[in-house]
Amino acid sequence: MSQKPLGLICAIPNEIQHFGSAFEKESEQDIAGFCFYSGKLDGVETILVEAGMGKVNAAVVTTLLMEHFNCRAILFSGVAGGLDPELGVGDVVVGNKLIQHDYGMTVGEKLTAYQPGHLPIHMPTEKLGYEVNAALIDKIMAELEDFELPEISAEAAGGTKRQPVITSGTILTGDQFIGCTVARDQLHKDLSGLAVEMEGAAIAQVADRYQVPFIIIRSLSDLAGEESTMDFIKFLEETAGGAALVLRRIINLV
Ligand code: ADE
Repeated sequence: MSQKPLGLICAIPNEIQHFGSAFEKESEQDIAGFCFYSGKLDGVETILVEAGMGKVNAAVVTTLLMEHFNCRAILFSGVAGGLDPELGVGDVVVGNKLIQHDYGMTVGEKLTAYQPGHLPIHMPTEKLGYEVNAALIDKIMAELEDFELPEISAEAAGGTKRQPVITSGTILTGDQFIGCTVARDQLHKDLSGLAVEMEGAAIAQVADRYQVPFIIIRSLSDLAGEESTMDFIKFLEETAGGAALVLRRIINLV
């Protein structure tokens, strides 16, 4: 019996294009205005889709990947804003936990994140976020131990060319582009996120419902501070490729 396909989501064309000729398209199908490409990524049966930005788009395409294509796992490749001061533009984060930072309760000026779906008044569960199976993360990080991405340009690295770091940790998701050092530092402090983006934890929530694995891989296009909108535009092209290369390297482990 042939294996079920992988579902691979990107948010925007700049993220998808890095798969280039590694993805051999066999057919395409339009559903609800999303184009789902069936084919092989490095020989692995994959359904590739550009979701657009934000949690709702991500949840819709993940549901469609499950209902129409019966995918065995959901992957995401794209860019994020960096939250951890140890990381720089071009570094790559493999999410081991995904948290929706914008779901919760606001009192005064402070938003406390709650587990999605729960009434955000009292926390009926200790659980916050969606964890990736630890054995899968270990396998992935072992595979990436000696993996070298192309050097980050001097401009993106803020001075001297350097080798990107590939690490794993918590990724935060919300329906907002973070361009503020105060918000960035607060998110890092409150939720220990290494990176922030706009889709990953919505994919995780749906994958959790269907009980299939999910892997979210993000390269940092910016550092989520006041300069992030400029950096995003300047470094999107260069950095999005890093996540795609990491995903291709680990595709056989999922
Ligand atoms: N994706 C890339 N950069 C981001 C940022 N600063 N905030 C949210 N999502 C992002």
